[in-house]
Amino acid sequence: MRAVTIPEPGGPEALVWAEVPDPEPGPGEVLVSVRASAVNRADLLQRQGHYPPPPGASAYPGLECSGVVAEVGPEVTGWAVGQEVCALLAGGGYAERVVVPAGQLLPVPAGVDPVDAAALPEVACTVWSNVVQVAGLAEGETLLVHGGGSGIGTFAIQLGAALGATVVATARSAKHDRLRELGAAHLVDYREQDFVEEVRRVTGGRGADVILDIMGAAYLGRNVSALATGGRLVVIGMQGGRRGELDLGALLAKRASVTATALRSRPVSEKAAIVAGVRGEVWPLVEAGRIRPVVDRRVPMADAAQAHRLVEASDHLGKVLLTVDPVG
Ligand SMILES: NC(=O)c1ccc[n+]([C@@H]2O[C@H](COP(=O)([O-])OP(=O)(O)OC[C@H]3O[C@@H](n4cnc5c(N)ncnc54)[C@H](OP(=O)(O)O)[C@@H]3O)[C@@H](O)[C@H]2O)c1
Repeated sequence: MRAVTIPEPGGPEALVWAEVPDPEPGPGEVLVSVRASAVNRADLLQRQGHYPPPPGASAYPGLECSGVVAEVGPEVTGWAVGQEVCALLAGGGYAERVVVPAGQLLPVPAGVDPVDAAALPEVACTVWSNVVQVAGLAEGETLLVHGGGSGIGTFAIQLGAALGATVVATARSAKHDRLRELGAAHLVDYREQDFVEEVRRVTGGRGADVILDIMGAAYLGRNVSALATGGRLVVIGMQGGRRGELDLGALLAKRASVTATALRSRPVSEKAAIVAGVRGEVWPLVEAGRIRPVVDRRVPMADAAQAHRLVEASDHLGKVLLTVDPVG
């Protein structure tokens, strides 16, 4: 089969479409013939040599895919050859075939294009596990989503709105109209406006109940300032650095919390539990049309470098897919 390899870490040109050995499914695993993968911010870091795959994961990038079940390994029940699926991966999605622990497979939701389904697993699992499981977002609360135009952000806006929350999102203004259509009630151009002031203004001074943050250190203090009493800040990205100063007094006075989580390094059993939760609670919202995959464009997988340039420049909204013709 062919896969996107990284012989030497570096810029987008470090991605090389090459012939590699075929993977074989072991016990509890399924071989998927890939139709599409999607670019995640983490793939850019992996390409640069800053985010090595966890032990046991494929060396090729790609944290999600859609495709067709090509082979079912021993001890797998509930999946059959020929089924259309999508999957959460620890790596290896940028390839014609990938081996997936059975617990990380999902059916393609009814009404979703089987290629576009590749845009869903990573964002659905990340956003649902953090916003619902960790932060406990409830109907009527306010959710602040940083980077509303990202793959993660476009999903978080839709999930928050579907759960009955008021969603505030930060993004460059060129993306605001589209994010309003996805369900954001208020938009903040983080380059020109102070999101703390804006969140206070639109909540009558109360602040946000839940903040989904991708900026890390750069936003830590202001995020705590933007929290409501009893608020929950969940940090899932460190685009603005990893070491910040936390005012525990401000947190204590608000009886608020700060949590940070990563999905990729979690054990297979924990990922399977998240995938099961997503299938039970999120897939019905997708099938009802309340949440849609947001696909900026499709790029042939052999041109992954072009897709990485696009995402690096943040010229996209939602997900950039990498497509491949399925092999048997
Ligand atoms: N912890 C986990 O398990 C986990 C899982 C998946 C993703 N993530 C993290 O989630 C983040 C989003 O991932 P992705 O793949 O969806 O990314 P992406 O599509 O590449 O988007 C990155 C976003 O960052 C935004 N941004 C840049 N500077 C900003 C600022 N100062 N304030 C607000 N937004 C800013 C950009 O917004 P504009 O285009 O509007 O400038 C862009 O939408 C990444 O940090 C990624 O590492 C974490």
